[in-house]
Amino acid sequence: MLDFVTVILAAGKGTRMKSKLPKVLHRAAGKSMLQHVIDAAYAAGARRNIVVTGFGGDVVRTAIGDSVEYVEQCEQLGTGHAVLQAKDLLSGEHGTIMVLCGDTPLLTAELLARFHEEHVNAGAKATVLTAIMPNAKGYGRIIRRENGEVLKIVEHKDATPEEREIHEVNAGIYCFDAEALFSALTKVTNDNAQGEYYLPDVLSILRDAGEKIWAVVADNYESTLGINSRSQLAVAERILRKRKVEELMADGVTIMDPNTTFIDAEVRVGMDTIIYPFTILEGVTVIGEDCIIGPHVRFQDMVIGDGVKAHYVYAHDAEVESGSDLGQFNHIRPDSHIGTGVKIGNFVEIKNSNIGECSKVPHLSYIGDCDMGAHVNMGCGTITVNYDGKNKYRTSIGNDAFVGCNSNLVAPVVVGENAYVAAGSTITRDVPSGTLAVARARQKEIEGWHDKRK
Ligand code: UD1
Ligand code: MG
Repeated sequence: MLDFVTVILAAGKGTRMKSKLPKVLHRAAGKSMLQHVIDAAYAAGARRNIVVTGFGGDVVRTAIGDSVEYVEQCEQLGTGHAVLQAKDLLSGEHGTIMVLCGDTPLLTAELLARFHEEHVNAGAKATVLTAIMPNAKGYGRIIRRENGEVLKIVEHKDATPEEREIHEVNAGIYCFDAEALFSALTKVTNDNAQGEYYLPDVLSILRDAGEKIWAVVADNYESTLGINSRSQLAVAERILRKRKVEELMADGVTIMDPNTTFIDAEVRVGMDTIIYPFTILEGVTVIGEDCIIGPHVRFQDMVIGDGVKAHYVYAHDAEVESGSDLGQFNHIRPDSHIGTGVKIGNFVEIKNSNIGECSKVPHLSYIGDCDMGAHVNMGCGTITVNYDGKNKYRTSIGNDAFVGCNSNLVAPVVVGENAYVAAGSTITRDVPSGTLAVARARQKEIEGWHDKRK
């Protein structure tokens, strides 16, 4: 694969988003628009990606990290001016520079790879990606000669009423020969309706100098949609989510109702897993094979083994091993590790705890800061008392221990292997292995109480 270098424009404020956040950091399918573009570029063969930042540059750099290079555009004087800022960083490059915008999250790696290949095959100095847009308002229009040759690009605000009738638009994505790009950019002026230095003007400058310019039409316009408002963001979100569920179904996942199932772009799900409606899988969640997930499950950054069942669960930043059963109405909180074959039953909260193989927490429990062994049975309503108002302490429960209903284990405390805790106990001292601890007031019966009261 022939590689290339990109310049990704992301300096604009995105006024129409009406947001404190730079436009390109708004998310669709769980990933910022800019990250979608960067990922597609890398997957299509980009060797270096240079992001032009401006409005909220620091926030963009922090969010995206150091997988790309950055250059600052201090004043937003137009897309041509933005690309010019990358000139020094690109001084050693002699191949293709692909220019992309950070607000086109629907681009696919396949489209970019094909576009680059066609640019190289055409032997052009500049190639623009175009799309046939049903509603072309706001886009630059592609003006062609009768023989089909591209003459120039006219911005919506500069276009005549006849030019505005044209539906072929500039997708804002270009391949340039590096030297030709930077020499033409110095000739771009800001003599236009917006007083900006327009990048698309490079095409007519090169054409007038007798260079070959070329255009490639995208086979569907959706992939090239530029997002400028929250309403358009919602359109992108819907398309990305549809793509994701289609991709998973093609890989052997059953999704009962794609319209009520929301799966982020990076989520992975194994074969023969069945997803019931009203399920939201977010972040970098990974789910194994043969699971039954939903209805009403929200997983964020979860790792789930094979054959796990979960319904009516909210779980985040935790791991659940194969064959476990979660539900219903559970909250699994960060840094919890649920072993294989575990049962977490109705109305249970688990936080920063390890639950050993085949242990059961079947009803109405709070398990926080606890290390539980294997085959432990926690009776209904058992609570780890982990917080004294100042500090948190851990509870440790050995293998095969049996904790009776409605017990409090006041941490720090250890319940040994094969130990028993009598129902209703408040345990404040360690319970040695194999013993029974009873820590509650003894029952007494007062005879004749009924008659005495009368
Ligand atoms: C641009 C194109 C238009 C094309 C459309 C496709 C120009 C002049 N127009 O218009 O032909 O149809 O994209 O979506 O290029 N940016 C900077 N610095 C600036 C100005 C913009 O980095 O000084 C960035 C923005 O953050 C954005 C991208 O460039 O990511 C495009 O800018 P935007 O204002 O959205 O241009 P459009 O009006 O959409
Ligand atoms: Mg735009």
